[in-house]
Amino acid sequence: MNENVLEIKNVSVVFDGFRALTEVSVNVKRNTIHFFIGPNGAGKTTLLDIICGKTKKTYGKVAFFSKDDQEYVLTDMKEYKIVGVGVGRKFQVPSVFKNLSVFDNMELSLKGNKGVWASITHRPTREELDSINETLELVGLADRKDVLAGALAHGEKQWLEIAMQLVQKPDLIMLDEPAAGMGKPETFKTGDILKSIKDRCTIIVVEHDMDFVKQVADTVTVLHEGRVLMEGSIDDVLADETVKSVYLGRGGERDA
Ligand SMILES: Nc1ncnc2c1ncn2[C@@H]1O[C@H](COP(=O)(O)OP(=O)(O)OP(=O)(O)O)[C@@H](O)[C@H]1O
Ligand SMILES: [Mg+2]
Repeated sequence: MNENVLEIKNVSVVFDGFRALTEVSVNVKRNTIHFFIGPNGAGKTTLLDIICGKTKKTYGKVAFFSKDDQEYVLTDMKEYKIVGVGVGRKFQVPSVFKNLSVFDNMELSLKGNKGVWASITHRPTREELDSINETLELVGLADRKDVLAGALAHGEKQWLEIAMQLVQKPDLIMLDEPAAGMGKPETFKTGDILKSIKDRCTIIVVEHDMDFVKQVADTVTVLHEGRVLMEGSIDDVLADETVKSVYLGRGGERDA
C-alpha cells in the first residue's frame, strides 16, 4: 500500500488573475494528523476546496490512494464522486440539522445519498445501529443521542459533525478550523478525539490554535501567500525564523 494517502503535485489556483495557490506540492501520509497552518488568506481553505472538488485547479494534480491502492485523480473528479471514494469534508460553517436528534443526524449522514425522506423513514440495520452508537461513543455523545442537534453546545455540534463524517467510514477527513469558537477544555477534548480516530482514517486539519496543533499534529505544512513556506514537525515549525516572522509573530495564535 502507498504510504501516502494523498499526493498534491504542483497545484496552482488563480481566481480572476489572483493567485490563491502557487505550485503547492505536499504528500499526506496515511493514518497521520496533518495540519495546514498559516496567516489569513494563505490559501488553506482553497486547498481543502481543491481536494474535495469544490474548486477547480488551474494547474496541477491531487492523487488519492484508497486502502486497496487504487489511485483516484481527485482534480479530475466531481465533488460527489470524491465523497464516494472515501474523502470527507467538514466545512467551516456547521451543517447539522437542528430540528433532528443527534441520532437522526447520524442516520441521515449514513444514508445521505438516499434523500432526506428515505433517510428518515429508513429503519437502520443492526450493523448501522452499532456503527452509529460506536461512533457517538468515540466523540463522547453517546448519552446525547436523543437530544435535538440544535440544543447541543457549540463544541458538541462540532463533535457531532466529526461523527457524521466518521460514520461514513472515510479513508480521509478534512476539518476546517474544528476548534474555532471553542474554549480550551473543549479544544483539548477535540484533540483527544482526533488522536483516537487516526488509526481508522487520515485527518487533515486547518487550525490557528497553536496549542491544539502542538497537542495532535504529526506533520505541519505552513502556507503563506498561496505557497508552501515550510513543512515539518511542530517543533521544527515553531523554531523556524521565517515562520515566526510571517505568522507566529503576527497574531497567528488566535485568542481562544
Ligand atoms: N472564490 C474566490 N474568488 C476570488 N478569490 C478568492 C476566492 N476564494 C478565496 N479567494 C481568495 O484567495 C485567498 C486565499 O483564501 P483562503 O480562504 O483559501 O484563505 P485561508 O488560508 O483559508 O484564510 P483564513 O485563515 O482567513 O480562513 C484569499 O485572498 C481569498 O480572498
Ligand atoms: Mg479558511
